[in-house]
Amino acid sequence: MKDVIRQGRLGGERTHDIESFLSSMEADRFIAEPDLLVDMAHLLMLVRQKIVTEEIASALMKPLLRMYQEGVPTDAFDEQYEDIHAGIESGLTREAGSEAGGRLHIGRSRNDEVATCIRIKTRSEIFDQLHALIRLRRVLITRAREFRDTIMPGFTHLQHAQPTTLAHHLLAYEQAFGRDFSRLSDSLARVNLSPLGAAAFASTGYPIDRKMTADLLGFDGIVLNTMDAVAGRDTAGEILAADTILLTTLSRFCEELVIWSSAFVRFVDLNEIYCSTSSIMPQKKNPDVAEILRSRAGSLLGEFVSAITITKGLPMSYNRDLQDLNPHLWRGITGIRRDIDLLAGMIRTARFETERMAEEAGKGFSTATEVADQLVREFDIPFRTAHHIVGHAVRKGTMDLNTLDEAAIEVTGVSLSSRGLTQIIIDTALDPAVGVNIRRWPGGPAHSATEQAIIERERVLADDETELIERVSRVEEAISRLIKEAKRIAES
Ligand code: ARG
Repeated sequence: MKDVIRQGRLGGERTHDIESFLSSMEADRFIAEPDLLVDMAHLLMLVRQKIVTEEIASALMKPLLRMYQEGVPTDAFDEQYEDIHAGIESGLTREAGSEAGGRLHIGRSRNDEVATCIRIKTRSEIFDQLHALIRLRRVLITRAREFRDTIMPGFTHLQHAQPTTLAHHLLAYEQAFGRDFSRLSDSLARVNLSPLGAAAFASTGYPIDRKMTADLLGFDGIVLNTMDAVAGRDTAGEILAADTILLTTLSRFCEELVIWSSAFVRFVDLNEIYCSTSSIMPQKKNPDVAEILRSRAGSLLGEFVSAITITKGLPMSYNRDLQDLNPHLWRGITGIRRDIDLLAGMIRTARFETERMAEEAGKGFSTATEVADQLVREFDIPFRTAHHIVGHAVRKGTMDLNTLDEAAIEVTGVSLSSRGLTQIIIDTALDPAVGVNIRRWPGGPAHSATEQAIIERERVLADDETELIERVSRVEEAISRLIKEAKRIAES
C-alpha cells in the first residue's frame, strides 16, 4: 500500500533517492516501541473523551498490542514511509480498515508524536545509565574499602607529588561519577514531561485530555506550551551534554588505566578479557577496552555538537531539520550504559600491584611537604622558610640531618639540629604512611578519614539507588496500567 500520508496533496513518483533521503526509518528503529505506546495512550484518551467509539478503538488496539508483544513488523520500516509513525499507521489501516485506521491520528500530528517518542526512549536510556552508574560506584567503593591502607604516589602534573592511598584515588572517581549521576537524574525533571496533544504546534480543537495521556505514558506532567512542546530539543542536547561530561570522567580514568598498565608504571594488571594481543607481536597485551573507552568521549562530543548545531538557527516551531538530529541522539546515548558497565567490570577484575605502588610512594621526594610541615610544627618557623630549607635539601639530593642543617644555615643562618632536629624526626616525616595518616580531615587519605568517606558515600549511593528504583517503578507501573487498559479495550 502506498504511503497513507502522501495520497492526498502530493502526486508523482518519488525516486528511491528522494524517498530514502526524506525517510527517518533508520533512526526510528529506536522509537518503534515507544510509538506503539503513544498510539495506545492516544487511542485510550480518544475513547474516554468519546472522540472515537470503543468499537473503532478495539479494532486498532488489537494489532497495536500484537505488535507490542511480537515486535513491529519489518514492512513498517520500509523507506517508502517517511517515518515509523507513517509505517505503523499504514499497517494498522491495512489490518483494521480505513474506517478505523484513519481515525487514529485525530487530534495529533507526527510532530507531537515524535517528540513524545523521543522523550520516552531518552528516559529509558537515562534509567539504564543511572543503574549502571550505581553499579560502577558500588564497585569503586568496594575496592576502595579493600585498598584503604594501600599507599601509592599521588600525582600533580603527572610528577610524584605526595603519597596518598589507592582508596583515596578510587573514591575521587566515585565522587565524580556521583555528580554525573545527579546531573542525569536532575535532567529527568525536564525530560519526563509529555508533549503529546500539542499536535502540529497549536494543539487541536478536539476535546483531548493531555494530562490523561501523560499519566498513561508515565510522564510527570505535560510540556505546557504546545509550540515549545514540538519545537524544543534542548532536552536532547542536555542529555548529550551530560553524557559527554560523564564519558569525560570515564575517559580520564581509562587514561590512567592505560598508563598504570604500562611496563614503566605497572600499577595495575588488567584482566585479559579487557585486553587484546597483536597480530604480529605475540607477547603483547594491550589495554584496548580502556583505549576505546578513552576515545568514546570524543565521539560523543561530536554527536552533541552536531545535535545542538542542527537546532541553533531554527525558527519556531517544528522544522524537518529536527529529524536529522535524531541519529546523533541515538548514536550518542544508546552506548553509554555499556561503556559504564565495561569500566565497572575492568575495575572489579583488575589486579592492583600494591607493592609497586608502595615502592613508588616515597620516590621523587614526595614526602618533602611533610618534612617542611614538621619543621613548622617543631620549630615554629614560617612555612615559606621551611619550604626553602627543604627545597635546598632536595636540590642537594639528600634529606638527612646534615643536608637539612646546611640548608637551614644557608636560608636562615641558624642550624636546626642546634634547636633539636634529629634524624628520627626527619625519618618519621619521610615515611609515606605517616604523611598519609596525618591527613585525617574529611575527604583526606588517612585511614580514619577513608573509613568515614566510605560510610558517607555508601549512604549517598543507597539514597540515589532508592530514588532511582522508585522513579523507575512509577514509570513501569504506568506502562503496565496502560497495557492493561489497552487489553480491556481490545477485548471489548
Ligand atoms: N520523522 C519526523 C521526525 O523525526 C516526524 C515528525 C513530523 N514530520 C513532518 N513531516 N512534519 O522529526
